[in-house]
Amino acid sequence: MNGEFLRIDEVGMRFGGLRALDGVSFDVERGTVLGLIGPNGSGKTTLMNVISGVYKPSAGSVRFKGTAIASLPSYEVCNIGIARTFQIVRPFANLTVLENVAVGSMFGRDRKPTHEAFERAEALLETVGLARVARRPASDLTIPDRKRLEVAKALALDPEVLLLDEVMAGLNATEVDEALELLRAVNARGVTLIVVEHLMKAIMAISRTIVVLVEGRKIAEGSPAEIAASPQVIEAYLGARFAQRQRQ
Ligand SMILES: Nc1ncnc2c1ncn2[C@@H]1O[C@H](COP(=O)(O)OP(=O)(O)OP(=O)(O)O)[C@@H](O)[C@H]1O
Ligand SMILES: [Mg+2]
Repeated sequence: MNGEFLRIDEVGMRFGGLRALDGVSFDVERGTVLGLIGPNGSGKTTLMNVISGVYKPSAGSVRFKGTAIASLPSYEVCNIGIARTFQIVRPFANLTVLENVAVGSMFGRDRKPTHEAFERAEALLETVGLARVARRPASDLTIPDRKRLEVAKALALDPEVLLLDEVMAGLNATEVDEALELLRAVNARGVTLIVVEHLMKAIMAISRTIVVLVEGRKIAEGSPAEIAASPQVIEAYLGARFAQRQRQ
């Protein structure tokens, strides 16, 4: 029996009078790619923050391999194998790109001695396409490269689950294809992915299952084909995005 891997159960999150999340439940299968979509302010980042232990939910539970993790601090969530990227990228600006990644390997759950951490960081930079800027300060990086650095930093923690919050935002079409290739390679190594993204083409291409949030509630869950054809999703999200594109 495989057993439950990651379960989000009736999660609610309030900020004062605002319900950012309300009764959100879904299961994440081991090894899958789950896409999380929804309009601005629908609670996607908040849910990432709850799963990664940045926020303690006001209601409900998160279970990872049978352990309740909703009350754990984020470093412990990271130690049990769940890493994340941030929508607002924030590298250590004064460290080199290589050092930024090596720090993850030195302090992640599988703490490595310095020289091994640097070797692993070199390999990860190769994987994400940043080997060419490894010795530059992180502050020199362009936005697409900062996104790549975020992914490399998270991978340095050697996670079982990786939460990716808009890592493809601001990338051009070629860069999006490269990012998708990278995420597929990471997933093929057995890392379960939860991907938040507004780029429909990308999320549809990479996800096995998609969960749709609107105003903090889950309004749909299904395969990319089911989601793309769902009248409710089109009405609440996809239709509006399509109409917006038509106007541009
Ligand atoms: N720390 C906070 N304090 C107060 N309100 C918050 C906080 N974090 C998020 N919110 C509010 O919760 C709601 C959900 O925000 P969230 O950032 O999760 O949305 P999102 O789906 O990630 O949006 P986007 O697509 O724009 O990134 C919004 O109304 C937001 O203003
Ligand atoms: Mg967000």
